[in-house]
Amino acid sequence: MKRDFTGIPIVDFSLSHSDPPKYYEQLRFALEDVGFVVFVNVPGFEDAFQKKLFARAEYLFSKPQAWKDALGTQHLYALRGYFRADDISGPHKAYAEAFRFGPDLPVPVGEDVPFWLKLHQGPNQWPDEEELPRFRELMETLFNRYHALNIALNAHICHILDIPEAVMGSYFPDATEFNSAIWHYLPLTPEIRAAAQDGFAQGMHEHRDPSTFVTCLIQSRPGLEVQNHAGEWVDVPMIEGGVVCNIGMQLMKLTGGKLVATTHRVNTLKIEEDRYTIPYVLSTKLDKKVAPLPQFANGYSAKDHAAPNPKILKLMGIDDPLERSGYARLSLFPAVGQRLYPQEFQRAHNLGLL
Ligand SMILES: [Fe+2]
Repeated sequence: MKRDFTGIPIVDFSLSHSDPPKYYEQLRFALEDVGFVVFVNVPGFEDAFQKKLFARAEYLFSKPQAWKDALGTQHLYALRGYFRADDISGPHKAYAEAFRFGPDLPVPVGEDVPFWLKLHQGPNQWPDEEELPRFRELMETLFNRYHALNIALNAHICHILDIPEAVMGSYFPDATEFNSAIWHYLPLTPEIRAAAQDGFAQGMHEHRDPSTFVTCLIQSRPGLEVQNHAGEWVDVPMIEGGVVCNIGMQLMKLTGGKLVATTHRVNTLKIEEDRYTIPYVLSTKLDKKVAPLPQFANGYSAKDHAAPNPKILKLMGIDDPLERSGYARLSLFPAVGQRLYPQEFQRAHNLGLL
């Protein structure tokens, strides 16, 4: 039975060294019952550094639309770069624009490169250094710090699960792979307010993270909401210098529901001014199937209040994890996906994934 919550736990990351019993008691509740935590005192995530990043983000999105479109996701099969989310139809529409990143790798070459690999591997589209000085350096510093946080957090998770770190490590590729983006949520307008229903205007539809172990995120303003076990929406607090981390469905699956992936959304009604967020996901091996570890195969079960999303359920039902990862990516970028991957897009449509 999961304990319910009315607030998101705020956990001092430095306690992992100074007072491990206290730290693990708090982290256990956060990951087993809530699925969300806001860490404070994470090395490298000081408020001044985060403010510098958000200032760069603000400058990036203040550039003319044509300048941003020249760095658009439609120019690369790996869908890196700029995109608007307010012109997407369907559940992935968000009153937002964003800029996607991953590890800088060459475009895979060859005649039979599978679509999922093309979607995952490629270079980033960095803005010109003169036009956005130190942007690349700042972002790469952030990615390195996020990586260090994820490595440390994975070890803490293994401690909670009482499993060797090598077990968790076997799900991650040797070379670091990740997904990141800068999101710019547009402020509330009278039109959006008028269209809101039940206290919600869609910034990001309600969902659980389907393909991940852990997602981490820094934010400049509030707007993120998490659904508790009673079905009520709880605000993720805005803590300066904080890092929000949440459990994804793959880690929930690995642990048989011991760690919980919780439904969340972004509510534009809470966004009075421009909001910037930078999520980061350390990717697991695309080709490694995730099944409950033997010690978690029975016993725990996923919490059942989460609204079933038939498209995500269908996606989770695709057996080949490589294909599933490709379709998951396509579903996030329907317009560009349809243009760059017409055959796979049609197949995904036929399978009811889009
Ligand atoms: Fe999410």
